[in-house]
Amino acid sequence: MFRLILLLILGASFGLTGCKEAAPSTPTGTNQPPDDDNNTGDPDTYEGITFKLGVIPTSLPSMNIPQINQPTAAKIELGRHLFYDKRMSTTRQVSCGSCHAPEKGFADNVAVSPGIQGRMGNLNAMTLVNLGHYEDYGWNGRFKSLEEHAPGPIFNTVELGFGRDPNFVEYYGDPDSDTIILFRNLGEEPKYPNMFKDAFGTTDITIERIAHAIAAFERTFVSITSPFDEFNSGTKTAIDGYAIRGYNLFTDATKTNCLSCHNGANFTDNQFNNNGASKTTKNQGRADRTGNSADIGKFRTPSLRNAGLTAPYMHDGSIATLEDVIRRYRNPDLSRTNIDPRIRPLDLTDQDVADIAAFIKTLTDKKFLQSPGLQNPWNN
Ligand code: HEC
Ligand code: HEC
Repeated sequence: MFRLILLLILGASFGLTGCKEAAPSTPTGTNQPPDDDNNTGDPDTYEGITFKLGVIPTSLPSMNIPQINQPTAAKIELGRHLFYDKRMSTTRQVSCGSCHAPEKGFADNVAVSPGIQGRMGNLNAMTLVNLGHYEDYGWNGRFKSLEEHAPGPIFNTVELGFGRDPNFVEYYGDPDSDTIILFRNLGEEPKYPNMFKDAFGTTDITIERIAHAIAAFERTFVSITSPFDEFNSGTKTAIDGYAIRGYNLFTDATKTNCLSCHNGANFTDNQFNNNGASKTTKNQGRADRTGNSADIGKFRTPSLRNAGLTAPYMHDGSIATLEDVIRRYRNPDLSRTNIDPRIRPLDLTDQDVADIAAFIKTLTDKKFLQSPGLQNPWNN
């Protein structure tokens, strides 16, 4: 905040317009010529490219935290331990972090991630980012809150495996309920009694407490410190000329339609849309939830934050690279059922495609992904 004010004061006193930076080597040095733009909406230039800031908000909207689950440091820390704990699966080989790994943008690099015993569902592991800012969770919005979502993967027979799958013979023979087996697994960890006590007042393990702790941890997944964010706040040297060209294309409604769906500080309208891009028809998308045939093929618009690390793409992982995704938008299959009317062939050169991909890669937020409070606390 102080730096921003300093920049504003310096900017005003220098009264610079269209000043060209000398070299991009010291992007955050305070002795640099101040940026004249600071989201005033006036065009600026860098490396000879004119651009305009203020199109994408520099901060996320406020988060809706449910009254029943106010965060505390102890709850968040417990949530982190549970998120990465392989005892959370029937086979003790899979955790939430297996499919949502920080170095992979809290997603995975395969079309469909294996759960217990290599079992496969049919959806691409979603990127976990700015999780406190959605109203519906999952590709088709099956869950209304993070608290409601957390037990989902635990009691899913292909993910963490609890939930009595008749085919899962090893565990089907156990007379105890799956919940009791899960609590017994967690009871083996000597750290947990104190952690549950610090978070919830007593040592008892319950599904509600597990869900609340994980949800509290997930609300700390706040990504707004990527190189693009620095650029967007006025440090024009934070991204290179290719990415700035990509930003211009991405935000130019006459050249592309990207902003009509990937908008706001989290690059999503939080709506269910059909971009006609997926290759499979295994999932009906939003229609699986609503039963409405007009919703067939609609999926929640994914955030583009950290998308540089989360290939392959789409709900089915059917598109291999960012460039392939953009080429698909350039040449969409307009015959797809329910395709969104905003999808139209785009007049983009190969260089344009590469530049838009370069721009999306500047949304990779290492400060967020590497922040100590989000890492695996176990040695496994
Ligand atoms: C086997 C891989 C796998 C495991 C294990 C797994 N997930 Fe996921 N995760 C997915 C997939 C696939 C989706 C998309 C599912 C859907 O759309 O219904 C997803 C979606 C999510 C979402 C929704 C994100 C959003 O923006 O809507 C959250 C939150 C999440 N997972 C958290 C977790 C937590 C917490 C755990 C552990 C309790 C976990 N996941 C375990 C694969 C996995
Ligand atoms: C009509 C709304 C809409 C428009 C316009 C649109 N997108 Fe998308 N985008 C989506 C939806 C919905 C998905 C997910 C579709 C799926 O999973 O099948 C998506 C997926 C993506 C993905 C993959 C993200 C991931 O995590 O899998 C990228 C990258 C992307 N869009 C970039 C763009 C770019 C660049 C443009 C402009 C050229 C654009 N989108 C235009 C709605 C849109």
